[in-house]
Amino acid sequence: MIAKTAASGGPGLDPRVLAFTSSLAADRAIVREDLAGSLAHLAMLARVGLVSAEDARELRGGLAALWDEWASGALALSGEEDVHMAIEAELSRRLGAVAGKLHTARSRNDQVALDLRLHVRERCGALLDALAAAVDQLADRAAAERDLVLPAYTHRQRAQAVTGAYLLCSHAEPLARDAAAFIFVLEQADACPLGVGAIAGTTLPIDREIPRTLLGFSRLTENGLDTVADRDFALDFAYTAARCLLHVGRIAAEFVALAGSDAGLVQLDGAIACGSSLMPQKRNPDVFELLRARGGRAAGNLAGLLNVLAGLPSGYHRDLQEDRAAVLDSGPLVLSALAALAVALDHVTFDAERCRAAVAGSDMQATDLAEALVRRGRPFREAYRAVGALVARCRSEGRPLASVTMEEARQVDPAFDTEALAAAEPLGSPARKVSAGGTGPASVEQQIASLKARAARIRARARAVPRLDELFARLMEVR
Ligand code: ARG
Repeated sequence: MIAKTAASGGPGLDPRVLAFTSSLAADRAIVREDLAGSLAHLAMLARVGLVSAEDARELRGGLAALWDEWASGALALSGEEDVHMAIEAELSRRLGAVAGKLHTARSRNDQVALDLRLHVRERCGALLDALAAAVDQLADRAAAERDLVLPAYTHRQRAQAVTGAYLLCSHAEPLARDAAAFIFVLEQADACPLGVGAIAGTTLPIDREIPRTLLGFSRLTENGLDTVADRDFALDFAYTAARCLLHVGRIAAEFVALAGSDAGLVQLDGAIACGSSLMPQKRNPDVFELLRARGGRAAGNLAGLLNVLAGLPSGYHRDLQEDRAAVLDSGPLVLSALAALAVALDHVTFDAERCRAAVAGSDMQATDLAEALVRRGRPFREAYRAVGALVARCRSEGRPLASVTMEEARQVDPAFDTEALAAAEPLGSPARKVSAGGTGPASVEQQIASLKARAARIRARARAVPRLDELFARLMEVR
């Protein structure tokens, strides 16, 4: 084991302690980050003259070989406390004493902070790409459902008729906000920690600006004692992942409800419907149910990280290694959910006939009717009560509100005329809405266009995030 001296009690550790304290298993997800960071650090050491050009060439070749072997699955890392030590140990087996120069003016404390920031950055790029696709897909689907009219619910009761387009846009909005939140995470992670050392900096003439620019960070972290303990970018990432899955879960919950046999407004294709092992008739929405539940794990990761960090004083503490689940699980949890959502959305169909019937036979146009009386000069509260009386009468007689006659309407309010009573027609209700942000056609057009424009911006931002393989290739050319 490399990171032990006579002062730390000799070279070995009880294997059971090593097994418990090692982060190597989890660190396998940050091997590429570690190698890219080492290459940037090496470039700096060579430029400031702390490592000779000849040694730098040898070390660069060693790191490149590890990169290629890792990519092909040929590299086995073992026997050390973490990825940083395992890579150094492997390099020294291959290159001998020169391998010991790479860790000049570097600590695992700034190294792991760098690896995690690089990891979060690349994951945010992938997540932004997936969110751009999700927002785009929902907006396109909305454009295809402009004419579908269906009930929208409050308190799980049918409340007002809306278009399918409006409903789908309502679910794209939170995902667009999540993309904005991942862009915020990118900004939080965008400071290079390399060069603060263990906590206090170094006596050696390093230049932190070199790895900063080489690795594509826009600023340096400002205080080393803070830097090695700072996992705020990881908290922001874990929170945003949890929030995004909450939104995915709400889309899923919507489709579970709409596809349920009581509503029956949506049908699931065979490609996504699951069966029952006992009941031959079932057509279950398991994929949406799993998406609905998925956020629990992400929320658990966030809660776990908050608790790891709470109460830690400044500086590095090994507790920080327990950040790994939150940082490493969050990305795959969200990415796999977004991928499944994309497939599932392609395999749901609104049952236009049942949607139409649900609206036609209901009283969801009651608010429109009250507003028609407001246009005739009635105070809203009076109009509201008059229409309430009409609804009560229709309900007690088991008739839809649309069946109200002029005579019945005038009994509750003589201000009713033909034009006002036209608002009792149920299916035209969404088209009657004129306010911004509502379900009316002009507003929905604007919402779809805005979502498409935001999806394009999110995609452009995703493409601007540096990818580690490109970064590594570029770093290999640096002298
Ligand atoms: N494996 C450690 C971690 O993940 C690396 C830093 C170790 N630093 C130390 N001083 N023991 O946090």
